[in-house]
Amino acid sequence: MTAAIAGRLPGSAWPQIIQGGMGVAISNWTLARAVSRTGQLGVVSGTGIDTVMVRRLQDGDVGGHVRRALAACPWPALADRVLSKYFLPKGRAPDQPYKRLPMWMANTPTSRQGIGMLAGFMEVWLAKAGHAGRVGVNLLTKVAIPNLPILYGAMHAQADVVLMGAGIPREIPGALDKLSLHEPAALRLDVIGALADDAARWLRFDPQSMGAGTDAALRRPAFFPIIAANSLATLMARKASGSIEGFVIEGPTAGGHNAPPRGQGRFDEEGQPIYGERDVVDLDAIAALGYPFWIAGGSGSPQGLASALAQGAAGIQVGTLFAYADESGMACGVKSQVLRAVRSRTVSVRTDPLASPTGFPFKVVDVQDTLSGDDVYQKRQRICDLGYLRDAYRGEGGAIHFRCASEPVEDFVRKGGSADDAAGRKCLCNGLMATAGIAQTQKDGSVEPAILTSGDAINDIRKILPQARDGYSALDVISYLTGPTG
Ligand SMILES: Cc1cc2nc3c(=O)[nH]c(=O)nc-3n(C[C@H](O)[C@H](O)[C@H](O)COP(=O)(O)O)c2cc1C
Repeated sequence: MTAAIAGRLPGSAWPQIIQGGMGVAISNWTLARAVSRTGQLGVVSGTGIDTVMVRRLQDGDVGGHVRRALAACPWPALADRVLSKYFLPKGRAPDQPYKRLPMWMANTPTSRQGIGMLAGFMEVWLAKAGHAGRVGVNLLTKVAIPNLPILYGAMHAQADVVLMGAGIPREIPGALDKLSLHEPAALRLDVIGALADDAARWLRFDPQSMGAGTDAALRRPAFFPIIAANSLATLMARKASGSIEGFVIEGPTAGGHNAPPRGQGRFDEEGQPIYGERDVVDLDAIAALGYPFWIAGGSGSPQGLASALAQGAAGIQVGTLFAYADESGMACGVKSQVLRAVRSRTVSVRTDPLASPTGFPFKVVDVQDTLSGDDVYQKRQRICDLGYLRDAYRGEGGAIHFRCASEPVEDFVRKGGSADDAAGRKCLCNGLMATAGIAQTQKDGSVEPAILTSGDAINDIRKILPQARDGYSALDVISYLTGPTG
C-alpha cells in the first residue's frame, strides 16, 4: 500500500473562487459540478446528506442520479439494502411522511454508518462526474457523529478538498490520513457535564468494517479549516493532528452560522450581536503562516476578489450569490420568492443569536411563511426527529444521552437543559431540509416550514439578476466575479 498523498490540490494552480459549502443540500452536486467545470472549486455540502439521499429516493429519484451513483459505489450489497428500503419508483403519495433514518448515536451501528458513507460517496461522485475539475466537501465540526463515515465515502469518490468550520476541526487532518489508508479513525465526542475522571468518549469508524475497496490507498484530500480568528489559524497550523493545506477566513457577514463575537453580550437594537475590532482577522498574520487562504463573507464581487488578492489571499469563498443560482438545491418556490424580494429591494437578513440550537449566531432571511416569522415559529409543534444538532450530555452513572435546545421544551428541561436556553431556538434540521424541497410531513399532517440563511450582502444579487429572467446560473456568478472591477 502506498502512502497517501497529502499536500497540494492536484493540478497546478489554486482556484481563485471557492463556492462555499451550503447545507442542507443548497450546494448540492448540481451546483458544485457547474462551478467545478469552470475550473473554480465547487463544494458539496455533506451536512445531513444521508437524510437527503433517502428522501431523494423516496421522491422517486427523478433523473436516476442517486441510483447511478449507488451503482458506481464499491459497496453494492449496502447500496441494494438502501434501495430496497427507501426507493419508491413512483415517489411518495401526497401527504405521506418520509421514512426517517435512525438518528446518529455515540455508538452508531455499522449498518447506519454505512448509509452516511454511501451518501458522502453519492454527492461527491455526482459532482465529479464527466469532467476533470476539482470538488470539495463541506461538513460542520459541530455535527460530529456522521463526519467520519461521510468523509470516507467522499474520499472513495475522490473528493479533492475537505472544508470544515463551526467548531475546531483539530482532529480531522489526522483522521483523513488514517481513512486514506483504510485505517480506523476516531474523533473525541464533546460531552456536556463530563467529569474530570470520566474516560474520554470516542466516535469510531473502521473502514474495514465496511468490507470493500481497502487494498489501494485513497488520495488524501487537502484540508481547509474555516476559521474566524487568528488564534484558531495558529492552533490549526501548529497543533492539528495532521497537515492542513489552506484556510478559509470567514467574517461575520457570511451566510450560515457565524462565529460569536469576542466579548459576548452586546447587541444592537434589533437584538443582533455586535462585532468589533477584536473580531477582525489580521490577514498579514494569516499570510505569515505560509498557507494559501480564501476570504469569505461579503467578498462576492469583482472588487472583493481584487481586494482579497491584494491582501495576499489566494481568492474568495462565496456563498450567497451561488445559493440562488439556477443549479442550487434551494426549492424553486422560496428561491423565486427571495429573488423577487431582492428585485423589489424588500429583502432583509438578520443575525439571530438564538435561532440555532448550536448557540452560534445564525443569519436568517426574513421570508413570509418561513420559520423567520413569529407566527410560523409559534404555530410549529416542536419535535426533534432528525437530531443532527443534538448535544451529548452526561446522564446518570456516566451514560451518554442527547438533547437539543429546539426539541420540546419539557423534554429539554427533563434532560437537564434550561427553559431559557430553549427560548427562540429553531429546528434547523427540519427547516433546512424544507428549504431544500424535502420538507417532512408530520403525523398531524403539518408540513415543516422552511428557514433561509444568507449573507448580509444578499442585495448584491441585483448586480447579476437579469431583467429579462427570474434567475441566473452559476456560470453567471463566476463571470461576474472574474469580470471587470470598474
Ligand atoms: C444558504 C447558505 C448556507 C450555508 N451553509 C454553510 C454550511 O453548511 N457550512 C459552512 O461551512 N458554511 C455555510 N455557509 C457559508 C458559506 O459557505 C460561505 O462561507 C459564505 O456564504 C460566504 O459569505 P457570503 O454569503 O457573503 O458569500 C452557508 C451560506 C449560505 C448562504
